[in-house]
Amino acid sequence: MTAKRWTLAAALCAMLAASPALADENTVTVGLILPMTGPSASTGKQEKAGAELYIHEHGDTVAGKKIALVVKDDTGAADVTKRLAEELVGNEHASVLMGFGLTPLALAAAPVATEAKVPEIVTAAATAMITEKSPYIVRTSFTLPQAAAPMADWALENGIRKVVTVVTDYGPGVDAEKWFGGTFEKGGGMIMQKIRVPLKNPDFAPFLQRMADDKPDAVFVFVPSGFGAIFMKQFVERGLDKSGVRLIGTGDVTDDDLLAAIGDAALGAVTTHHYSADHDSPENKAFVAAFEKANNGMRPNFMAVAAYDGMGLVYKALEKTKGDASGDALLAAMKGLSWTSPRGPVSIDPETRDIVQNIYVRKVEMKDGALFNVEFATIPDVKDPYKASKR
Ligand code: PHB
Repeated sequence: MTAKRWTLAAALCAMLAASPALADENTVTVGLILPMTGPSASTGKQEKAGAELYIHEHGDTVAGKKIALVVKDDTGAADVTKRLAEELVGNEHASVLMGFGLTPLALAAAPVATEAKVPEIVTAAATAMITEKSPYIVRTSFTLPQAAAPMADWALENGIRKVVTVVTDYGPGVDAEKWFGGTFEKGGGMIMQKIRVPLKNPDFAPFLQRMADDKPDAVFVFVPSGFGAIFMKQFVERGLDKSGVRLIGTGDVTDDDLLAAIGDAALGAVTTHHYSADHDSPENKAFVAAFEKANNGMRPNFMAVAAYDGMGLVYKALEKTKGDASGDALLAAMKGLSWTSPRGPVSIDPETRDIVQNIYVRKVEMKDGALFNVEFATIPDVKDPYKASKR
């Protein structure tokens, strides 16, 4: 080779190295955007571990394509989520965007998914309307109406008549307040007070004092995953755990990841949710054992299972398209898919792109020396009631 040719070859190599991941058609890149730092870091940690476990168990090749998981930390800030989503589809040729620890973060990525025609798999955020913000959004987590409405039915059937609701003041909290409260009032129950607490630096103490004076039969709570310990600590400090006021809510407040830290204060809390680490099925027993083994004994929560299933959704869709990773093909393949998750039987509603799943009624109990959300009733195949109500 002449000197001139050498220079040209070197320049070409340098160019290739500098342009991040020139699209390799044998690789499918999944961009997992999560809050790995900040107040929702527990969600990031659980979700990353869930997605990685799926790849570890099923191999990193599907339908002839190599799966490359790229994890990005959005620190819980929506502007960062959007920039990362743009970079992932623009520079790293991601075929799928996944994750989104909070509702505003899932919403920030929606226009990017729409414009790039790339599926956005929401594995955490749970405000019902999220899937309406892009035809490319598919969800494997849950919706707050799906989890909260069954809690109202259980409360009514179990002699609870007067309730104070306490929710974090943003999308999922407002959904929880509306769908618990609306269902409860329709069934003859009374909402004595509706309390909303800010997402940033929440202080429940003043509200809890007022609530102690109101003497409701129960307090219904929604706080996002990772925030349950603050609420429970203040609940106990005000003596509400000993006052006869029952604690009910969606399962976010008794998050499996936090139960040990919350301690005995959580005993007896009844919640409705789609996943418990204690779920009694062979699939879940295998999932929990493998997850704990791979993560220094960390117990999986509902975020981990949603990311595990989100990754599974990518694999199943790629099998169906025989490796075609174009956005429209993947999206079409995802609609209507069904499988057995560690949480039980699930499917993707082809009309709403939300997950259809069992909702379980659970009570926090001590079992073999540890606290668990022990399931004692099942409401099968629950669709998001918000979307059903609009039809
Ligand atoms: C949300 O922001 O949509 C969200 C986050 C954590 C939860 C539930 C909903 O546990």
